[in-house]
Amino acid sequence: MMTFDEAKRVLAANGQEQVLRFWKQLKPSQRKALLSQIESLDFPMLTRMRGLLEPSEAIPQEDPVAPEVVEWTPELYAKALRVGEKELANGRVAVLLVAGGQGSRLGFDGPKGAFPIGPLTDQPLFYFHARKVLALSKRYQARVPFYIMTSDVNHAATVACFQKNRFFGLPPEDVIFFVQGMLPALDQDGKIMLDRPDHIFLSPDGHGGTLTALAKNGCLADMKARGIRSIFYFQVDNPMVEIADPAFIGLHALEKAEISLKLVAKRDPHEGVGMVVKRGPVFSMIEYSELTEEQATRRKSNGDLYFKYGSVAIHVFSRAFLERESKKKLPLHIAHKKVPYVADDGTIVKPGAPNACKFEKFIFDVLPDAKRVLNLAFDRAEEFSPVKNAEGVDSPASCRHDLQAKWRRWAGIPEDSPIPIEIDPAYARTAEELREKGIRL
Ligand code: UTP
Repeated sequence: MMTFDEAKRVLAANGQEQVLRFWKQLKPSQRKALLSQIESLDFPMLTRMRGLLEPSEAIPQEDPVAPEVVEWTPELYAKALRVGEKELANGRVAVLLVAGGQGSRLGFDGPKGAFPIGPLTDQPLFYFHARKVLALSKRYQARVPFYIMTSDVNHAATVACFQKNRFFGLPPEDVIFFVQGMLPALDQDGKIMLDRPDHIFLSPDGHGGTLTALAKNGCLADMKARGIRSIFYFQVDNPMVEIADPAFIGLHALEKAEISLKLVAKRDPHEGVGMVVKRGPVFSMIEYSELTEEQATRRKSNGDLYFKYGSVAIHVFSRAFLERESKKKLPLHIAHKKVPYVADDGTIVKPGAPNACKFEKFIFDVLPDAKRVLNLAFDRAEEFSPVKNAEGVDSPASCRHDLQAKWRRWAGIPEDSPIPIEIDPAYARTAEELREKGIRL
């Protein structure tokens, strides 16, 4: 453990002496905890973070071009499905869920994955994900390891949710939890902030933190030992996601892609989703706000938007690519946020307006490094309805509505029928599986 003198020295060398300003009034246990936090700070990262606070000139860039996006034809689907099913049956596929976020917009007291979303059963988001993994493993008679990234803010509660529900039927040895990194927030002078006299404020380092966390926690090595070739990546908030969609996995393999992305047609030119673009041979993800109004609203001769598709973080990565990327540094993104802090008199202040910079890494920043990228269009009504907000758009209510509409379609009843419906994904993961069961309502 670092001593007080060592901590003082390293903080002074980095212009962060204020971290110890309450030292004299701390109890021995508090001192120990603070020293341990200081010891785990990544000072080179802190230097990068402070550098970002300085104004910098925007580098002029080529105009973005929309990439080629594959749409399924029956022939292509059948071919890809055969390959993907073989990959699954041979145990080459892992599932990776990022669930370390704070879910602040939803405002639920607990990990977002524990939020009850089942329209009839109130089963949590985790249930729908886990039961799909179970369905795949049963159908293809193979192990499908399920890696779940948590963060210090929700790790214990996430594990407890799985334990309480007996892992939703999955073999516990194939559910691997790993914890992402945390980063401090900086005030406008680039100083690390304390949220208690004995505690540095920390928050999860973004879904891009997956890469370092996978490597650091031995998950990449575990995947290699299991013979994994493709990793299906998704977010916790969308219970409609088709996890490790066999045809998507197959197309990724056929195309020898390093990253594959499922893209959805945007609702309107200004929908707040990321967009895959190309500049020369290089792919990247941009926000719609990075397009000019002309670019955002540009249309092709058939009336479609030129930048028609958005990304909703449904990806397949090749394991070798993630291994390569985990050795690199992803860029940091700044967000101005409200961060509680200790005033000099020791009181805790909850600011009414943004007072700090938080830093996050984004997973899609690996895109420019990918040599082969596959973009595949998917149908929003079948696969995407996230729980982001407490009410309104992308809320529990809209999600339950969309889930039931989909299941009614599967069951062959009118979408707007008042008949309540819920289907356990381990019973039927797709419309075809439901038909195979011979369900008649
Ligand atoms: P969001 O950007 O929607 O953030 O995360 P969030 O934390 O869930 O919700 P808000 O913005 O606070 O309301 C997209 C996905 O990335 C994961 C989330 O758990 C979610 O599955 N994520 C986000 C992480 O795993 N770690 C992070 O540091 C941030």
